[in-house]
Amino acid sequence: MKKMFLAIESSCDETAAAVVAEGREILSNVVQSSASLHERFGGVVPELASRAHLEAVVPVVDQALAEADLSVADLTGLGVCAGPGLLGSLIVGVSAAKALAFASGKPLVPVHHLASHIAANYLAFQDLEPPFLALVVSGAHAHIVEVQDYNSFVILARTRDDAPGEAYDKISRELGLAYPGGPKLDKLARMGNAQALDLPRPHFEDSLDFSFSGIKTASLNALNKAKQQAKTRLVRREDILADKDLAAAFQEAVVASLLEHVSQALDQTGYDKLVLAGGVSANSWLRDQSEALSRERGLKLYVPPLTLCTDNAAMTAAQSYYAYESGERADLKLNATAMWELGSPIPH
Ligand code: KG4
Ligand code: ZN
Repeated sequence: MKKMFLAIESSCDETAAAVVAEGREILSNVVQSSASLHERFGGVVPELASRAHLEAVVPVVDQALAEADLSVADLTGLGVCAGPGLLGSLIVGVSAAKALAFASGKPLVPVHHLASHIAANYLAFQDLEPPFLALVVSGAHAHIVEVQDYNSFVILARTRDDAPGEAYDKISRELGLAYPGGPKLDKLARMGNAQALDLPRPHFEDSLDFSFSGIKTASLNALNKAKQQAKTRLVRREDILADKDLAAAFQEAVVASLLEHVSQALDQTGYDKLVLAGGVSANSWLRDQSEALSRERGLKLYVPPLTLCTDNAAMTAAQSYYAYESGERADLKLNATAMWELGSPIPH
């Protein structure tokens, strides 16, 4: 009998539920996004996201079970993203999972959001097993992680300020692109000339940590300067600094910075497997450049398909299975937690 997990993910603006067998086989994967509600505010409004989760969570769970052709009684257990993320959003998913666990008597398994992003790769690549090095890049995080085992993580680098997705969304907003701007900026950048603008490549002495706020601020300053010059010279701003060129320079700087640090981490650790994970791993330039790096270094590269890069519950269900196998359980006192370091025990 295969071990099957239904998992719920509600850490940001996607309400998602999925059923996965043995941590590897997707039986259903339902994602309902409330992004359109946040569009006119230029970013996720936590109150609106929580309310949307409340409305969506029961139908989304029902649909995930129906598409898998299973009932709760057929499941091995229930997985849930318990953090990190927006507290009001997480609470909805955690409460729903606790209710299902209570009603069915099935075990409840809390999982870390970034561990789940990494686990998206187990669904896409049946041969992938730890240990490996992972670059986890999302709207809230940038980590280089040593994945020593399915449940054992060591963070080698983190961002000291903005997350790359956050910087993408901010620049997109300034260029008038609707939230979430990451994918739109990515497309625009592919048409531009990255040499049009010189941007910083920050790094720290004796540390692999990232910093993206300098790249973001320098991009915004260049945009404002071009706007000012356009006014005084009575020319179009596009003729001084085109959106596509700004986008290309920004994208080049972010991706180069990410991969320079990944290269150093590979030198230090000697891993020959590199895994990308998180919403920003959907970025086309990051995917292309990671392939080039892997060819150059003779690495095996794993990059999830686009649907598994951004938030979904199949990745949560995959990680739930591995967490369950290692004995991870929660009781009905489980709390959602907005701050939770990958590799550390869940805070109480
Ligand atoms: O992992 P995710 O779905 O949610 C979080 O855990 O944060 O990541 C969402 C982030 C957003 O900031 C979004 O703009 C960014 O991923 N993103 C991209 C691309 N697709 C999504 N950023 C750059 N290029 C993309 N193609
Ligand atoms: Zn995410």
